[in-house]
Amino acid sequence: MSVHGLTLILLCWLPLRILLTPVSSHPQLSHCRLIQRTALCNNANVSSVPSGLPGDTEDLQLNNNHLETLQDDSLLLYPSLLSLSLACNLLTELESNAFQNSPSLKSLNLANNRLHMGVSQTSLALKKLPHLRALDLSVNKLGGEMLTTLLQNLTSLEYLNLSGNLLMRLDESSFSDLHQLRELDLQRNVIFEIDDAFQSNAKLQRLNLAFNYLPCLTDFRMTQLVVLNASHNFIEWFISRQDLDDTFQLETLDLTDNKLLFFPFLPSHSRLRNLYLAHNNLRFYEHLADNVTNPNLTTTVEFYNLNKDTGNVTAQLWNEGLHGDISSLEILDLRVNQVQYFPEGFIGKMSALTRLQMRKNCLESLNLTEGFSGRLYELDISDNRLNQISVDAETLAVLSNLTYFNLSLNNLERLPSKLFSSLPSLRSVDLSFNDVDVCVSEDAAPIRADNVSSCVSWRDVAYLEQLYLKGCNLEIIPPSAFSGLSLTHLELSDNPGLQVQGSIRGLGRTLQHLGLGNTQIRDLDFSHFEHLKFLNISANNLADLPSSLLDLDLKVLDIRDNRLSTIPRSLANTLAPKLQLVFLAGNPFSCCQTEWFRTFESTKTMTMVEQSDIRCEDLLLTTHRVQNLRSSVCLDDRGETYILWYLLLFLPICLSFVGILFIFLLSFRPKTLQKSIKKRCLKRSSY
Ligand SMILES: *[C@@H]1O[C@H](CO)[C@@H](O)[C@H](O)[C@H]1NC(C)=O
Ligand SMILES: *[C@@H]1O[C@H](CO)[C@@H](O)[C@H](O)[C@H]1NC(C)=O
Ligand SMILES: *[C@@H]1O[C@H](CO)[C@@H](O)[C@H](O)[C@H]1NC(C)=O
Ligand SMILES: *[C@@H]1O[C@H](CO)[C@@H](O)[C@H](O)[C@H]1NC(C)=O
Ligand SMILES: *[C@@H]1O[C@H](CO)[C@@H](O)[C@H](O)[C@H]1NC(C)=O
Ligand SMILES: *[C@@H]1O[C@H](CO)[C@@H](O)[C@H](O)[C@H]1NC(C)=O
Ligand SMILES: *[C@@H]1O[C@H](CO)[C@@H](O)[C@H](O)[C@H]1NC(C)=O
Ligand SMILES: *[C@@H]1O[C@H](CO)[C@@H](O)[C@H](O)[C@H]1NC(C)=O
Ligand SMILES: *[C@@H]1O[C@H](CO)[C@@H](O)[C@H](O)[C@H]1NC(C)=O
Ligand SMILES: *[C@@H]1O[C@H](CO)[C@@H](O)[C@H](O)[C@H]1NC(C)=O
Ligand SMILES: *[C@@H]1O[C@H](CO)[C@@H](O)[C@H](O)[C@H]1NC(C)=O
Ligand SMILES: *[C@@H]1O[C@H](CO)[C@@H](O)[C@H](O)[C@H]1NC(C)=O
Repeated sequence: MSVHGLTLILLCWLPLRILLTPVSSHPQLSHCRLIQRTALCNNANVSSVPSGLPGDTEDLQLNNNHLETLQDDSLLLYPSLLSLSLACNLLTELESNAFQNSPSLKSLNLANNRLHMGVSQTSLALKKLPHLRALDLSVNKLGGEMLTTLLQNLTSLEYLNLSGNLLMRLDESSFSDLHQLRELDLQRNVIFEIDDAFQSNAKLQRLNLAFNYLPCLTDFRMTQLVVLNASHNFIEWFISRQDLDDTFQLETLDLTDNKLLFFPFLPSHSRLRNLYLAHNNLRFYEHLADNVTNPNLTTTVEFYNLNKDTGNVTAQLWNEGLHGDISSLEILDLRVNQVQYFPEGFIGKMSALTRLQMRKNCLESLNLTEGFSGRLYELDISDNRLNQISVDAETLAVLSNLTYFNLSLNNLERLPSKLFSSLPSLRSVDLSFNDVDVCVSEDAAPIRADNVSSCVSWRDVAYLEQLYLKGCNLEIIPPSAFSGLSLTHLELSDNPGLQVQGSIRGLGRTLQHLGLGNTQIRDLDFSHFEHLKFLNISANNLADLPSSLLDLDLKVLDIRDNRLSTIPRSLANTLAPKLQLVFLAGNPFSCCQTEWFRTFESTKTMTMVEQSDIRCEDLLLTTHRVQNLRSSVCLDDRGETYILWYLLLFLPICLSFVGILFIFLLSFRPKTLQKSIKKRCLKRSSY
């Protein structure tokens, strides 16, 4: 949208070689690369502006060098400069006449320097730049007063980056000259108070206040703002001015990771589309508004401006009208909050809602008839306390765009019997960690009087592609459970004792992801699954890998926690070039058969996850890390030499032992010895 010229700071982190890509037939200065009117002198180990660049240079980049000042005469030779980037130098100041011959400079990047040391000179220098549009002063240890000095008279500035400084308070003097300002980045300061700071910035559209120390945003009335990012603060209250008739331009409000207790009090007229409220303590309190049971409860709270009392705000806490205008909301992110229910009419007001993200809240029931928008695409109610979902046929017909439905980690035991099969766009369902079965009967789900069922008949969900049924206490999946479906993902892990009864065989044409970890599954034959990319058969007590893995084109394989003692050479050689990730820990591999490990280790395109946890046992049942295995533990993979080595080591010990025994007998049982000698002697002397 507005000027982004100064994002050049990114160059600080770009490796030098990117900047040194060959440039044909242009003159090459010792430190710089010239591309048309751009001079790239980044990472060039220079401590002053190089002379000898073409006089018509328009864009000069000197990021990541050792400049300590920009002298009065540094830029005299380059009167056509439009853009100058000095990020990541050691600049303490710009001398006051540094820009005397730079009348057209529009963009100046001073990020990552030490400008706090020479603010007065620098501010005089900046005043000579009447056309400056973009200024990056991020990471310069600047405090509030320095800021006011530096920004005086920068009346044409449109983009200003002040992130990573030491600003604490902003007031009406902070940005008072910046009448053209459109984008302001104040991330990562220590701002705890904002008092009328943006009065003069009627064009400000994007404001980033993330990672500061703001305790609240009350009396919000910046109608011009399009994007406000106040994430990662300590905000308990967000209250916008309710008495303004103007429509707020606000489209995106990010209050992620704050301390909100209440749903933000949004403007009464706005275009708000994206509302991010994840990681707060938010819930609804409508039930407290019942003044019969709670007659003495305060219903209003007043806020007083810390300095003057011109900004008193009164909020009626339980009045749901104060949720403001949410009619154009498309994304509502409420992940990780405390929501127990939605107030009456709340869902129905969001007629444009496409994504509702409620992971990790406290919802006990989900009432789909509350008026969800027909545009709803994603509904994530995972990790709540749902034990009931209510719906009726008309509602299901409305939810024709619902594609992604996550109900995992709830307490569901029963579901409306036609819930999934009536949603025509449904592609992905996650029901993991609920107690819902797969219907066994070949007919449709048994219909109870109240139309709820304790099992789901998946083959009626015609367009389903991804199905997650982890940890659902499944025992039997009937052979025809998925017939007719074109699943690409099927996750059945953590259902110990599961019998799949051939139900997955028909999915060979389409299946890419198959999770069968911790199912104690037997008789694995994967030869039909030609498209499989991900296979999880961990924790299944397998002593051998199924040879049908040879035919697959796997990218990810999890075979942790089985009883594997080795991976046959042919299998290792076939898998290694295809795999990207393999999980192997938790198997009692044999130290004398680890050729597979070296095959995998030497394959650069694959990663063995938790490599240091892969262990093996030697013949004495001692455990070793396979990656540190010394060749002396086992000389050869085939084991014969091992036995030889074993004998070589233990033969002397046995011999010495026999010797000691012999001496022992010699000294303590002389008679026996004598007898035996005698016997022999007798025999021998019997000639
Ligand atoms: C950078 O320049 C200094 C002298 O200005 C020199 O001593 C140093 O070796 C140079 N470093 C590199 C990496 O070229
Ligand atoms: C800066 O602005 C002030 C008024 O805000 C004015 O008096 C002063 O002359 C300006 N200075 C320059 C260098 O433009
Ligand atoms: C502002 O500067 C910081 C650090 O220099 C950078 O990470 C951020 O992306 C910049 N902001 C914008 C809006 O360009
Ligand atoms: C808000 O700022 C944070 C920190 O820079 C960033 O991670 C987040 O994506 C921003 N939010 C939006 C909606 O852009
Ligand atoms: C209780 O609430 C109703 C409507 O919400 C209001 O008319 C009535 O005055 C309230 N009563 C008291 C005692 O506050
Ligand atoms: C409400 O307040 C009145 C007087 O302040 C008091 O007598 C009454 O017991 C209170 N009722 C409740 C339910 O706290
Ligand atoms: C704000 O509240 C204070 C304290 O109640 C009061 O004295 C002042 O008049 C109020 N100001 C406005 C503008 O309402
Ligand atoms: C669901 O919401 C509708 C409309 O708000 C209401 O009529 C119905 O009683 C609710 N059902 C349940 C089970 O709460
Ligand atoms: C479903 O979504 C598509 C595009 O995402 C949209 O064009 C269509 O209008 C939506 N359907 C309904 C009923 O809102
Ligand atoms: C569903 O939600 C759970 C918990 O929030 C998450 O772990 C899982 O990946 C989600 N499922 C899908 C298919 O995205
Ligand atoms: C159950 O479904 C049938 C038809 O789908 C409908 O006529 C009946 O009213 C439903 N019963 C309940 C209790 O919702
Ligand atoms: C495989 O399944 C097990 C059991 O559910 C799980 O713990 C593990 O994280 C899964 N592996 C991968 C790579 O997702």
